[in-house]
Amino acid sequence: MNKSRPFVFWNVAIARRVVFLAICWIMPAQALAQTANRQPVSTANPSDPSYPPDVPTLLLGVAWYPEQWPESRWEEDLRLMEAAQIHMVRVGEFAWSRIEPEEAKYDLEWLEQAIALAAKHHIVVVLGTPTDAPPAWMTQKYPDVLRVNENGRPDEHGNRRQFSYTSPRFRRFCRAVAEQMAMRFGHNPNVIGWQIGNEFSFDSYDIYTRQQFQQWLKAKYRTLDSLNQHWTTAYWSQAYDNWDEIPLEDTRGNPGLLLDHKRFVSEVWRDFENDQITALRTHADPRQFITTNIGGLGWSDRWEHYTVAQPLDLASWDDYVGQGHLDPYKDGAMHDLIRGLKRKNFWVMETQPGFVNWAAVSNSLDQDEVRLMAWEAVGHGAETVSYWQWRSALNGQEQYHGAIVGPDGTPVPLYSEIRQIGQEFARMAPKLRDTVPISEIAILHSYESRWAIDFQLHNQHYDQQQVLLDYYRPLRDLAQSVDIVSPDVPLNSYKLVVAPDLNLISGDLGRHLLEYMKNGGHLVLGPRSGMKDAYNALDSRRQPGPLAEPLGGRVEQFYALENDVPVSGQWGGGKASVWAELLSTRTSDAQVLMRYGASNGWLDGQPAVITRVVGKGRITYIGAILDPALMAAAAGWMVKVSGVRPVFGPLPEGVEVCRRVANQRTVFILLNHARQPVQVSLPHPMQAEITTNGEVSAITLPAFGVEVLEDH
Ligand code: GLA
Repeated sequence: MNKSRPFVFWNVAIARRVVFLAICWIMPAQALAQTANRQPVSTANPSDPSYPPDVPTLLLGVAWYPEQWPESRWEEDLRLMEAAQIHMVRVGEFAWSRIEPEEAKYDLEWLEQAIALAAKHHIVVVLGTPTDAPPAWMTQKYPDVLRVNENGRPDEHGNRRQFSYTSPRFRRFCRAVAEQMAMRFGHNPNVIGWQIGNEFSFDSYDIYTRQQFQQWLKAKYRTLDSLNQHWTTAYWSQAYDNWDEIPLEDTRGNPGLLLDHKRFVSEVWRDFENDQITALRTHADPRQFITTNIGGLGWSDRWEHYTVAQPLDLASWDDYVGQGHLDPYKDGAMHDLIRGLKRKNFWVMETQPGFVNWAAVSNSLDQDEVRLMAWEAVGHGAETVSYWQWRSALNGQEQYHGAIVGPDGTPVPLYSEIRQIGQEFARMAPKLRDTVPISEIAILHSYESRWAIDFQLHNQHYDQQQVLLDYYRPLRDLAQSVDIVSPDVPLNSYKLVVAPDLNLISGDLGRHLLEYMKNGGHLVLGPRSGMKDAYNALDSRRQPGPLAEPLGGRVEQFYALENDVPVSGQWGGGKASVWAELLSTRTSDAQVLMRYGASNGWLDGQPAVITRVVGKGRITYIGAILDPALMAAAAGWMVKVSGVRPVFGPLPEGVEVCRRVANQRTVFILLNHARQPVQVSLPHPMQAEITTNGEVSAITLPAFGVEVLEDH
């Protein structure tokens, strides 16, 4: 304490800081609640949009950065886009220093010009709020807006995502810039929607985040006794005496803390988003939709996507292959996961125009593969496919990324393929309007279970995306349409529900799934199911926890496998790898379908798969990761006993079918993922639109070929 200053001065200073900290503590919690229930409702419907005339409802788009080019160049870019039937540009998500060159001094005139010029070329605009890359003046003058990394080191200017998502000052700047943009463009007829920030990514370890996490825990647990009990902090003397002792931890911590931290991160991103949704909705026309583009190749679990997607009008994601080539199952599953976020059609806000710049080997997709990838997206429910990006900035960290025009501004070889997609989208738009994929099978996908398993993998080869795809592949082949949804959604429309690794099954979820089975549904649980409760504590009933009773069996022990283990039974013979659970039946009507062969002694001859009738439905537990041939047999059995029917019918190897329906209308999209032409016989004559134009009962799809069939 500086002795020269009078006593009163210090007390006022301390009093002011205490008030400031209190505001940091209390404000967010209240803001949380208020923002959530103050949103005016949007009328935007992705499958039935209201775009200006001459703009097709099935949109081809591109990311465009007019702030990087002289205005004299814009017309030519938009002319070339229109010539390729590109009818949507996303603009602005990285333009903060141009939109607010000085604190509270906004320049939106250039953006108004760009939007008007786009309209002249029948190109609608999605505006990005620029909150993924704060300007230098802000981080310089207010270092408290900067992100702090896990090692306590503040980020610096010169890249992006260098902000703290909890910093009260940063959040105010975000609300202000979003509000300015909404006041200016909220009723612009050529602006059809908004993208909040860009690919929410890094959480932060700054003082605000730590205090808000502790506040969040206090609101959830109310007493430290309750937290200490649920986290078993008697373990390693972790017990907490004060809330401010609780650390921010995302890797090595107590499983209860790690799970709650992830939940907190998810709620912070949702509130970061809600801040801006409120700012936009207060001024924007309800016809303008609000979304945010989900990165991380769709599979990312940095935050809970269902939580963050909840306040949005539509979900959108950034679909990149990176190294290698299009994997129809992986890409298809990610589309289905994104579609499941809001259980309605979605946007592909970014995808690769040939190649990226960030992969270990940024190879290009082959000719026609970009078109195939675009139509696969539409088949799985995309209403827009948009490329990142139109043209590389002359300098900057992504000069090598694929684009549609070259450094001289003229088209690159891919341009003609993009134009072909644009022409097809424009022609097929009326046929696909209002149509959506419908499935009889749902795969349950829980971020909480994924986090819980990834926190304690126990076998480094346990890859949860692969485990999900092990079920998705054969089921997609057999049923030709699969939804991927959160476990808590209504399930009665599904004949078969598969949960590859539902590690956490809370009491409520257990009841929800039991209800589904009693009403006639078939629930299939994969390995590691029902091991934990909602606090990521071990469920003392053994796996599958609340579902052990209806299963009439349980898991006696789990084993991380060093070597493959033979398995055989009703689905034939094969092997289990990576993970195997020794199951037991505890009721006479629980049936053993598969048993392990000779392995580590413990598993020898023991049940690997059991099933039981429950009410009008059934439950099946698969205790191991089975080889693809066994998974194909298992899927065959699942769809047979559940009465699931293929949406189209038999198809040659390498051909994928997607079905989109609206009342009275059915459209099939056929995709040849093979590098040779293939003959496809149709279940009955249909109207072909792409390879030929007329009623056909068989078609020849060229390599990477696409066909759109209208089924009368
Ligand atoms: C992400 C970002 C874009 C760009 C692309 C590159 O998806 O949203 O800004 O960096 O990747 O592939």
